[in-house]
This record gives sequence, C-alpha cells and structure tokens, in this order.
Amino acid sequence: MKIGFIGAGTVTGTFGRHLLGAGHEIVVSNSRGPETLADFAAKLGPGASAGTRQQAADCEVVILAVNWVNVPGALAGIDWRGRLLVDATNAHADPDPDLSLDGVARSRAALHGLTSSEIVAQLAAGARLVKSISNMPMSWIQDFSPAKPRTVLFVSGDDAEAKRVTSDLIDSTGLAAVDLGSLKTGGAMHEVGGPLSALELHFVRALERE
Ligand SMILES: NC(=O)c1ccc[n+]([C@@H]2O[C@H](COP(=O)([O-])OP(=O)(O)OC[C@H]3O[C@@H](n4cnc5c(N)ncnc54)[C@H](OP(=O)(O)O)[C@@H]3O)[C@@H](O)[C@H]2O)c1
Repeated sequence: MKIGFIGAGTVTGTFGRHLLGAGHEIVVSNSRGPETLADFAAKLGPGASAGTRQQAADCEVVILAVNWVNVPGALAGIDWRGRLLVDATNAHADPDPDLSLDGVARSRAALHGLTSSEIVAQLAAGARLVKSISNMPMSWIQDFSPAKPRTVLFVSGDDAEAKRVTSDLIDSTGLAAVDLGSLKTGGAMHEVGGPLSALELHFVRALERE
C-alpha cells in the first residue's frame, strides 16, 4: 500500500519505518517542500520518497503528523472528500507540550467539549477520518525487529471501512490495532488526557470469533 504523511518528524520517522518494514511505500511531506526532505527520505531507505502535501494526500492512506498548532495549515488547500485520513496528532494547547495534569486539562478545555479528531474532521471536510497512532510516545515503539512486541495502537472513527483499512495497515506492521469505537466516544478514550492515553499495552491473545 502507498501511504502519505503530512509532517516529517518523529511520528513519520517512526511509524514510517514500521510501514517500510512491512513492505509498504511512503511519501513524506512538510510545509517547506520535497527538496528539504531528501535526506529524511533517504535515511528511511528504499520505499520512502519526498513529495508535496498534495502528493502525500493523493496516497491511499494519508497520515496527519504535525503539531496541533500547525494542523489548519497542514490540511488547507486540499480537497479531502473521500480521502482516508489518519489523525496522529495530539491537541496540545502549547507548541511545547505541557504534560502536567494542569497542562493536559488546559489542552482539553481548549477543545470546548469536542474530541480533537472531531475538530480535525471539521477542518478536513469530507475525509474518512480515523484517529490513531497518537496514544503513546514514539520512543515506546522503537523496536523494528520482526520479534517486536505487538504494541497496541488504538483506532477510533465513524467510517467502519476506513477503520478496517487502518487497522489492517497497523496489524501488517506487527503492531496491534484495537478499535475503540466512534470519533466522539473512542476518541475521548485515547486522546491526550483520556483513560487509555499514554499507556503501553502489548497485545497477547484474543478468543477466536466466528
Ligand atoms: N513524538 C511523539 O512521540 C508523538 C507520539 C504520538 C503523537 N504525536 C503527535 O503527532 C504529531 C507530530 O508529532 P512529531 O513529534 O512527529 O512532530 P515533529 O517531530 O515536530 O514534526 C512535525 C512535522 O510537521 C511539519 N509541519 C509543520 N507545519 C506543517 C504544514 N503546514 N504542513 C506540512 N507539514 C508541516 C514539520 O516540518 P516543517 O516545519 O519543516 O514544515 C515537521 O516535519 C503531534 O501532534 C504530536 O502531538 C507525537
């Protein structure tokens, strides 16, 4: 599968590497243009290329991986209708996140009762939005070996097919997707400040279901 990233920092470098390890192709983009990302893409290795935001958005799955303050600019100017957009962002009120209880409470208050992905959904009108990849620091998934733990990445969203595609993509990397439901209820559980945010969970087994 071909996956585009809007943003080319820690999340893209980490989750992108998991995707490349599973045989996927990735296109990485930032605000400054592909020429500024040649080294970043080269370091990721074969299968990674630098592109424009539009080229990233034209991929089968698009991952939004920019800081919260940059979300409006990162989504602007693209027709999102029908595109599968995975929101990997965390809605920190400050560019330099304050992870204390007060800082987290302030970030949540700034959302005025919406989940952060509901706000992203408003900014990317018509996108088939899934929230995922955002529930833990990337430093916890730096094992890229085939024997890596099946670390749980949550997914939430209102489009069942988009969630299935996203979950299959995560599972293909050796990490484990767990569906928490809609953007509103599921999103509230794994976004910053939610009860399932910032927990490292490893998938061990599930009962076979018919
Ligand atoms: N780091 C983690 O462990 C982690 C874990 C889970 C979730 N998250 C969340 O994921 C998001 C990204 O985090 P990160 O750590 O990867 O951030 P980062 O390392 O600071 O990278 C952010 C990237 O966004 C790009 N960017 C900024 N404005 C842009 C625009 N208008 N259009 C396209 N690209 C733009 C930046 O490049 P230019 O400035 O050159 O454009 C940079 O490549 C954040 O919301 C964060 O809260 C982070």
